[in-house]
Amino acid sequence: MEFTNSECLMGGVSVSELAREFGTPLYVYEEELIRKRFRSFRDAIPYRPLRLLYACKANSNLELMRVLLDEGCGIDACSPGEVFFAIEAGCKPQDVMLTGSNITDAQIAMVRHYDVLINMDSVTQLERYGAAYPGTECSLRINPEIGAGAHEHVVTGGPNVKFGIMHDRLPEALGIARLHNLKVVGVHMHIGSNILNHEPFIEAAKVFLESVRLLPDLRFVDLGGGFGVPYGPGQQGADLKEFGKAVSGLFEGFCKDYGRELALVFENGRYYVAQAGHLLVRVVDVKKTRTHVFVGTDSGFTHLIRPALYEAHHEVVNCTRRDSRPIEASVVGNVCETGDYFARHRNIPEPFPGDILSIENAGAYGYAMASPYNGWPRPAEVMVASGKARLIRSRESYEDLLRGQREIINIAYPWGETKQPESQ
Ligand code: LLP
Repeated sequence: MEFTNSECLMGGVSVSELAREFGTPLYVYEEELIRKRFRSFRDAIPYRPLRLLYACKANSNLELMRVLLDEGCGIDACSPGEVFFAIEAGCKPQDVMLTGSNITDAQIAMVRHYDVLINMDSVTQLERYGAAYPGTECSLRINPEIGAGAHEHVVTGGPNVKFGIMHDRLPEALGIARLHNLKVVGVHMHIGSNILNHEPFIEAAKVFLESVRLLPDLRFVDLGGGFGVPYGPGQQGADLKEFGKAVSGLFEGFCKDYGRELALVFENGRYYVAQAGHLLVRVVDVKKTRTHVFVGTDSGFTHLIRPALYEAHHEVVNCTRRDSRPIEASVVGNVCETGDYFARHRNIPEPFPGDILSIENAGAYGYAMASPYNGWPRPAEVMVASGKARLIRSRESYEDLLRGQREIINIAYPWGETKQPESQ
């Protein structure tokens, strides 16, 4: 986002124009920033061959994925649905990997149909897979029993989480792989999300690499994603240069001992897309109570649930009135729940009805976690670049929200009509 004297610009397009043309609430993504973030991560890691996947659970808009594919990225999918999105976005099957949890046999079959490599999340999944597809390739997700992350909900490594094969069960997993003649071509770890310092990665990678060194057929080692972005004042991202040096040294040493050069893989989601995304909302009402000023908007946790779910901090910018007197306010939404807020007790230039606010750093886990709860349709999404905006997903309609119901209701009337009579 940039500011001129009178305007607030995103990708060179003015926010008021975006709101006028596409309406609010609206997700806006800055294409150049996505590219820049991707390149900054790539360039910080000197080790080659390096393969970067984008964990599209952060934001699976096809056009947004295409920007990253264009940069040479592959896709990390967490469900058969995301595999489908990746292929639809134009990703080659060999550049997609499925790292899921509790995937059924039928879902495995679907993913195999695309010829996408699957990261096994449990010994029993490996058993099911091996029995059905003996002699094929797979990869193993290993839990190094070290976790990290900005909130306990997003710590995905350690003894108390459901993910991966515990590293001490690796010998058992290898026995199963051998039994079914499976070739374990990759190993994977992912310790958590929104991590702002690189030490836990290195610590976990050491344990992890030590546990996988006897696997004979490796082609790659995937150290996961989880690099955080600063959301609040005073926060700083991990020192990527330091991390790049440390992890490359560690991995070079590993490959030397292993006797072969392997590909090093990372699968960030948030790092590439969080900062590029803005949720534009319009102020509908300002309510002053004895203890609060509630700035009510036309969106809510239905569209960005992170503050309600993780008490996450998202900066709020008043794009219409940057110079008005700051007041302490809570920015809330239109959902019928008290926990529906974007920001609590925040100092922002006093907003008035009609103002456009931007909820910042909303590109990751924003739209992706949106729901039509309370009958609020999901917003439209727009990509901005070089002073131009393009619609990359239409706003959901009320009719969309009835999909799957109207057809049933139409045949279910007891009077046998396919349509409800005009009047009764
Ligand atoms: N790979 C695996 C196996 C994962 O489970 C995840 C995230 C990622 C990669 C990408 O992590 P990232 O680089 O985006 O941190 N909804 C939460 C985040 C949940 C992340 C879960 N796993 C949030 O809004 O903070």
